[in-house]
Amino acid sequence: MLEEILKLQSLIEQIVISSAEELEQFRIQFLGKKGRLAALFDAFKQIPAADKKMLGSRLNDLKNLASEKYLHSKIQFTGPDNQVIGDLTLPPDSIPAGSRHPVSLIRKEIISIFSKIGYTVAEGPEIEDDWHVFSGLNFPLEHPARDMQDTFFIEKDPDILLRTHTSSVQVRVMEVSKPPIRKIFPGRVFRNEAISARAHCIFHQIEGLYIDKNVSFADLKQTLMFFAREMFGEKTQVRLRPSFFPFTEPSAEVDVSCTICGGSGCNVCKYTGFLEILGCGMVDPNVLEASSIDSGIYTGFAFGMGLERIAMLKYQINDLRLYFENDIRFLNQFISSY
Ligand code: DAH
Repeated sequence: MLEEILKLQSLIEQIVISSAEELEQFRIQFLGKKGRLAALFDAFKQIPAADKKMLGSRLNDLKNLASEKYLHSKIQFTGPDNQVIGDLTLPPDSIPAGSRHPVSLIRKEIISIFSKIGYTVAEGPEIEDDWHVFSGLNFPLEHPARDMQDTFFIEKDPDILLRTHTSSVQVRVMEVSKPPIRKIFPGRVFRNEAISARAHCIFHQIEGLYIDKNVSFADLKQTLMFFAREMFGEKTQVRLRPSFFPFTEPSAEVDVSCTICGGSGCNVCKYTGFLEILGCGMVDPNVLEASSIDSGIYTGFAFGMGLERIAMLKYQINDLRLYFENDIRFLNQFISSY
């Protein structure tokens, strides 16, 4: 048997396989079910046990030699997995690129603008309690402003609700940190609104809070002017109108010159030349005190804006529902904005 093994070994070593047909012949002759190796393995069963160890390992070496030669030539003639090798210099099929959602783009941009002037980011829970959404922000119990926000309450426990604004994170941050505080809070908010082009029950806000000694309304104005010009362009004009929010005093709403007509009047700004972008004001001393910050030493300002609204102005999106429908034709338009 050893003789036969050595004979086959030198035969296999000498064979030159130069085509797919010769490869197939090689396979049949040596590795096939009725091939020469199979015959040897059959014969192996009959030999005395004493010889089996030495001959067994020789036989295995021979089988490996034949298999390797076969596989090596197979790749050469038919490619891996029997596929014919194509032109390896061809460029690969392109992988379709995704895009960031416009709301994510705007959030990223706002965070980057405020980080230039020292603001860091904090987040809070979407399921909140009355204290952080209302009472801690100076909304008296029966105050109509609570209705203004169309709150979703959790059944069975009117103390638990979905936050209607990210101002709740102000309270959470003030509870656990000492001034100076200079932070922005991005997040989702929820209101019980019928879904239409102009309203949605889920949307996104970014809240800002700055508390320190000697913070003034002039600081607020300057900060928002900086933001508006970074966001909408250097020539943007900013206008503050007096307003009311329970948690700020005085309060204001901020308009920027129309992003479409630049202020000369068009149907987007309803010929006023301005578009509203956010609410703001000086943090009410009651709000500071509710979170144990001494309003005799510290003052601060806060502002809050809707991300869909800012995206709407920046990208001229005229229907809020588009943000939530995941229509590829809509989303693909933002591929290059990344
Ligand atoms: N929380 C307000 C809202 O959802 C927005 C807002 C207004 C936030 C004035 C503020 C602020 O911080 O000072 O409509």
